[in-house]
Amino acid sequence: MRFMRRLFTSLLVVLTAVGLSGCSAFDSITGGKRIIRIAHAQSEEHPEHIGMLEFKKIIEEKLGDKYEVEIFPNELLGSAQKAIELTQTGAIDFVIAGTANVETFAKAYEIFSMPYLFTSQEAYHEVMNDVDYMKKLYNSTDESGFRVLTWFDAGIRSFYSTKPIRTPEDLKGQKIRVQQSPASVNMVKAFGAAASPMSFGEVYTAIQQGVINGAENNELALTNNKHGEVAKYYSYNQHQMVPDVLLGNTKFLDSLSDEEYDIFMEAAQKATEVEMEEWGKAVEEAKDYAKNEQGVEFIEVDVQAFKDKVVGVQKEMLEDNPDITDMYEHIQEVNKKYEEKEQ
Ligand code: GCU
Repeated sequence: MRFMRRLFTSLLVVLTAVGLSGCSAFDSITGGKRIIRIAHAQSEEHPEHIGMLEFKKIIEEKLGDKYEVEIFPNELLGSAQKAIELTQTGAIDFVIAGTANVETFAKAYEIFSMPYLFTSQEAYHEVMNDVDYMKKLYNSTDESGFRVLTWFDAGIRSFYSTKPIRTPEDLKGQKIRVQQSPASVNMVKAFGAAASPMSFGEVYTAIQQGVINGAENNELALTNNKHGEVAKYYSYNQHQMVPDVLLGNTKFLDSLSDEEYDIFMEAAQKATEVEMEEWGKAVEEAKDYAKNEQGVEFIEVDVQAFKDKVVGVQKEMLEDNPDITDMYEHIQEVNKKYEEKEQ
């Protein structure tokens, strides 16, 4: 693995140089085809990778005389933040990243880090699948050098640790890794724990070495990223549903003809459909494996007790960031629709 990382670091240096100079040194290597490079942080078994294989298939089927798609999983081209920067400069063309990593580039994305924002998965899916509604947000980063094409379900985030968390009080004194997002740092502090922001790839070793006690994520982090080997307690407090998004370099997207652009959008949409079909299955498999093979204990908690701790965070976020107001109100309406259906 270390060798692979070193190899890809060298590749990265070349890619950065190519991207910055804007030349297409790689074209000749592949007989004139433009290589589309996509980075993400997950393993090759992860639903997002499977979704992106569909993206690759569609692009190569429909535009294969011109483009070849290469997918770099496992943070091989660097952490999410680094890979976003590479996409901004055009060193690579696409990256999948959690919206928490996009916050530093566009404050409107903070909305998804708000704890207990969505009150059901149905509401979450409806909001995110509303392509027309999301377009405004997705296109808002054009000036920063990238545009979002689509989203991927990244489940529900909860805490997991080397020490059991049964009530919010159990978080006191624990050091919990969060994504590199100020909103998530504030949330974890409000829960009473110490927040330690770091990239996803660093979490396993940090738990193993006792630098942190735990982290927070969906169930796949236990298996795909092996965190269940080092953290044996997963508590269903369900504080966030943070989507992942597929970002593309604006210049590249704008260089496409209308017909090509439509094909890229269609491929992105199909990737989301495939990913979502895989997601539910993947969560069930992850739970099963974590419980039976890794010995992880899944703990049901009183979610309301956790919600009560972060009411102030929601309020503060709304006061401090006017960029999230519209989206917040929209989500409340969708939430309400599903809450009424429940009754
Ligand atoms: C999830 C999510 C990633 C994110 C990661 C994290 O796995 O899908 O996009 O980077 O959590 O916590 O960093």
